[in-house]
Amino acid sequence: MEKNFNRILVTAALPYANGPVHIGHLAGAYLPSDIYVRYQRAQKRDVKFICGTDEHGVPIAIRAMKEGVSPQDVVDKYHKIIGDSFSGMGISFDIFSRTTTDTHRQTSQAFFRKLYDEGLFEERESEQYYDEEKETFLADRYIVGTCPICSNENAYGDQCEKCGSTLSPDQLINPRSALSNAKPVKKMTKHWYFPLNQYEDFLKEWIVEGKKDEWKSNVYGQCKSWLDNGLQPRAMTRDSNWGVPVPVEGAEGKVLYVWFDAPIGYISATKELLPTSWDDYWCKEDTKLVHFIGKDNIVFHCIIFPAMLKAHGGYVLPENVPANEFLNIEGDKVSTSRNWAVWIDEYLQDFPDMQDTLRYVLCSNAPETKDNDFTWKDFQLRHNSELVDIFGNFINRAMVLMHKLCDGKVPAYHEAEQTELDISLIKEIVASKAKVEKAIETYHFREALFEVIDLARKGNKYLQEIAPWSLSKTPELKAENQAKIDNCLHVALQLCANLAILSNPFLPFTAKKICKMLTVVDRMLEWENAGKMDLLKKGYPLRAPELLFRKVEDAEIEAQREKLQANAKASIILAEPEEKEAELPEMKDIIEFGDFEKIDLRVGTVLSAEKVKKADKLLQLEVDMGFEKRTIVSGIALHYAPEEVVGRQVVVVANLAPRKMRGIESAGMILMAEDAEGKLIFVSPASMALAGGGVR
Ligand code: 2FM
Ligand code: ZN
Repeated sequence: MEKNFNRILVTAALPYANGPVHIGHLAGAYLPSDIYVRYQRAQKRDVKFICGTDEHGVPIAIRAMKEGVSPQDVVDKYHKIIGDSFSGMGISFDIFSRTTTDTHRQTSQAFFRKLYDEGLFEERESEQYYDEEKETFLADRYIVGTCPICSNENAYGDQCEKCGSTLSPDQLINPRSALSNAKPVKKMTKHWYFPLNQYEDFLKEWIVEGKKDEWKSNVYGQCKSWLDNGLQPRAMTRDSNWGVPVPVEGAEGKVLYVWFDAPIGYISATKELLPTSWDDYWCKEDTKLVHFIGKDNIVFHCIIFPAMLKAHGGYVLPENVPANEFLNIEGDKVSTSRNWAVWIDEYLQDFPDMQDTLRYVLCSNAPETKDNDFTWKDFQLRHNSELVDIFGNFINRAMVLMHKLCDGKVPAYHEAEQTELDISLIKEIVASKAKVEKAIETYHFREALFEVIDLARKGNKYLQEIAPWSLSKTPELKAENQAKIDNCLHVALQLCANLAILSNPFLPFTAKKICKMLTVVDRMLEWENAGKMDLLKKGYPLRAPELLFRKVEDAEIEAQREKLQANAKASIILAEPEEKEAELPEMKDIIEFGDFEKIDLRVGTVLSAEKVKKADKLLQLEVDMGFEKRTIVSGIALHYAPEEVVGRQVVVVANLAPRKMRGIESAGMILMAEDAEGKLIFVSPASMALAGGGVR
């Protein structure tokens, strides 16, 4: 390992215990982390794999209230369902804990208390909406009312889903609580703010100077833009009766903000796993800490939690945070509220014994650098044409031929008779170890898996080229060619053993089956054995081959597609806001009216749009400003195709100093908002406005 690490601590994001997990979760954090950990274990490195459920936060409390059960009931139910889904899929945590344990309460309170005692927190009072009937403060999402722009009566306090406008609760006409329908009142409340701004320099040095080339560009890019925008103090407490109580006087009815306590959950879980040596993993500099997460968690793991750890002192910081992007399903974003998801518990019921297929499909199509799409057709195709036809087929042919042509025993390798074909495949086998290893160590799991399948593909080609069956058509021919046949099947069987080792991190169920057929113990799967050509000794008897995979039929795929559509239809009736702790930016410092007046906002019309070469995110727009035409480069290409934006009226910051982006001078900026799922949406006039007119 680089940098002389002596132990590795791998964490996978703690999923909220308010719903089951879906394939997006698996592809984002849990499968890559499991592959990484299985590989490290095979390397016989000291590695611990930490996870558990995130059981606090407003959405859980509200869900319980709506269902008329206690929050504890909700989290108990989902802790079990989520845990079963992970173990069913072979996700091999060393501990799967939860944030409602005593250890966690103590650990997170002690953490808060230390920062508090050192006078780090800033106390601030502010007015917030309160539901007097339910006796609870209301997050913006839980205030509903009439949209001032489109008159939709069910707009949320942060957004109207009908017209897409970003709102604040104060803008709603006739606001009411989503919990009780009561009119919310404003009430003063006090909270403790973590001075994130004081950690800006430290974070810049650590990330911008230290991690630029090491971290994935999507992760680095998000961090950089947070840092460039300037960090603000963040409230680390909330008014709620569900959570870890704030351990200071005068904080009755207040709990730790869920994003304060959740990452500390990694530490608490490590304590539960290793009561006497947990601190080796968290406090010794020769630990490699790696957080696997989805992209919506980047700021918490790369900015906020490291700042907390730094403020506390004594902890190591993450070496890497290999966050994945999102996985869409059949062209649409995964959505729990619209029930547009493939749930793991249901998958395991529908496809028992096909865990490796889902692992294979999700890894080979993982959203490592950009959002990707899962389709059931692609699932079938990858399974049938790659796992079955290439990987399974090679192992099966090698085993069948060996039983037929070599008496069910590993044949000898006759060096004197070896051919160029034998030598070149052996070279490939030896070389593949380093390739797979390098890709896994650098978090390129798709590439690593591709190498494994490619090796099986080469194995098939080799069998095809030598065609031992044609060398043994008659007993005489066979006798004459036996050395060639032996060599072919010797190499093919060593390749089977190598494929078991190399595929084990990705396809652990399959690797085990191969070991069984080869009559070897699981210890053969240790990584140091990869690339060896003497894993199976001459004369060693092997079991009869079993098929590793069956085909997936069209009817199964059709049934899954219908199920997806039917679930989504049924959920329209029950639609609720997405039950997730939203990641809203903190308020920036107050500015004077004079500062605001300096900004010249104008309405423009997009005349044409095209993609900017070699820049995934950028569109080059020609905008009619009424008084002139301008070129504006806008970072919306991941959200809109050029043809979707032509003809739109947009709001432009018209007096922004021009700047060059990818060599194109951009004269202005287009205002965009984010919807609940992170898609950028236009802030546009609701009806036809005067082109070039001011926006006030
Ligand atoms: O996004 C989520 O599902 C969060 N519950 C992840 C928490 S990760 C960690 F900080 F605990
Ligand atoms: Zn509206």
